[in-house]
Amino acid sequence: MRILLGVSGGIAAYKAVLLLRLLREQGHAVRVIPTRAALEFVGAPTFEALSGEPVSTEVFDDVPGVQHVALGKGADLVIVAPATADFLARAATGRADDLLTTTLLAASCPVVLAPAMHTEMWEHPATRANVATLRERGVHVIEPASGRLTGVDTGPGRLPEPEDIAREALSVAGAGGAQGSVQDLAGRTVVVSAGGTREPIDPVRFIGNRSSGRQGVALAQAALARGATVTLVAANLAQDVTDQVEAGPGRAACTVVRVESTAELREAVRTAGADADVVVMAAAVADFRPAATPDAKIKKVPGQGPAPIELVENPDILAEIAHERLRPGQVVVGFAAETGDASGSVLDHGRTKARRKGADLIAVNAVGSGRGFGTDANDVTVLDGAGDVVGQAAGSKREVADALWDAVVKRLP
Ligand SMILES: Cc1cc2nc3c(=O)[nH]c(=O)nc-3n(C[C@H](O)[C@H](O)[C@H](O)COP(=O)(O)O)c2cc1C
Repeated sequence: MRILLGVSGGIAAYKAVLLLRLLREQGHAVRVIPTRAALEFVGAPTFEALSGEPVSTEVFDDVPGVQHVALGKGADLVIVAPATADFLARAATGRADDLLTTTLLAASCPVVLAPAMHTEMWEHPATRANVATLRERGVHVIEPASGRLTGVDTGPGRLPEPEDIAREALSVAGAGGAQGSVQDLAGRTVVVSAGGTREPIDPVRFIGNRSSGRQGVALAQAALARGATVTLVAANLAQDVTDQVEAGPGRAACTVVRVESTAELREAVRTAGADADVVVMAAAVADFRPAATPDAKIKKVPGQGPAPIELVENPDILAEIAHERLRPGQVVVGFAAETGDASGSVLDHGRTKARRKGADLIAVNAVGSGRGFGTDANDVTVLDGAGDVVGQAAGSKREVADALWDAVVKRLP
């Protein structure tokens, strides 16, 4: 999930550092936008080092990038913690006098504010009115905790603990239950293959498929958020999907192994899978490959028709791993992307595949005609190894990913 963490200038700004670290550990990409006053309390280098992303406070810091619009539109969730009385007032009146407030107006994702201030400030009618206005607009304002404030004072107005803010904010973003707080894959090692393999015909051509890698990457991100150590075996991901997983500032904190062909994917999955509790084969793997791959480009000879390309069968990686189990007790999950035809429906084909492969779970989805591949949503039926329906999930690929992990967790020893 891409999170914007706004930090305004209260004494509790130091807790934003812990919140940032927590969100990063859960696998989220976090961009911190402090106010000028926040930087009086915590320095920008701290936020930059822990987020791996640049930090700026002003809309004029990167004019060509029109930051506030890019950041606002690209975010899945905005959290402001701590939110000062001043920030609440500016947000309630729609002020846009720094990068944080301007970005807030450009954001259409869920917004969660965690106010923190002295009890008198929190209970002041002006602050109460601002909070009421924000709540009416759909902003989620977390109730401050009660306890020790700055100095010797105690009372309501204290910033809740970072764990509590993260849990509440992620559940507001619909990432709650599973993605947000439940660390039910903590201590587990998982391997997810994503994308589609390419089988070389000659040095410049290949046989490929339309898989973008979106579902596999969503599975990897969901597993990270649930506490797993993740290896993503990435086969030719679409560019925007690659951008999500590229190592570097703010990206998903999983190990990424890039592969191209089915043979490379098999090698990578088997290597990483030897230590894995779970292997999820979400990549679209070619069933066949050209029998021979010449070193030179195949030339068109005028007057002669195309030379036939002889295909040979690729190893069935899913069936192989499911039958062998690279590690005792390993849970193996496959995907069946089906179109349905005269011989059977999407589910019929999925059932046949489930029984043949020997995997613990098979997620069956209908593809083709704008469905499944390359889209942001998915609709899967989850079958067990016997072909019986054990779950159904529809929604974003992240939601589908979490439903699948729910089913996996039940099968882990
Ligand atoms: C030591 C110190 C602590 C402060 N703590 C808070 C606080 O906890 N909550 C708050 O609303 N304002 C607090 N303030 C006041 C804000 O810093 C001030 O209102 C500022 O204008 C907030 O700017 P911002 O909302 O742009 O971050 C504090 C000020 C100082 C000097």
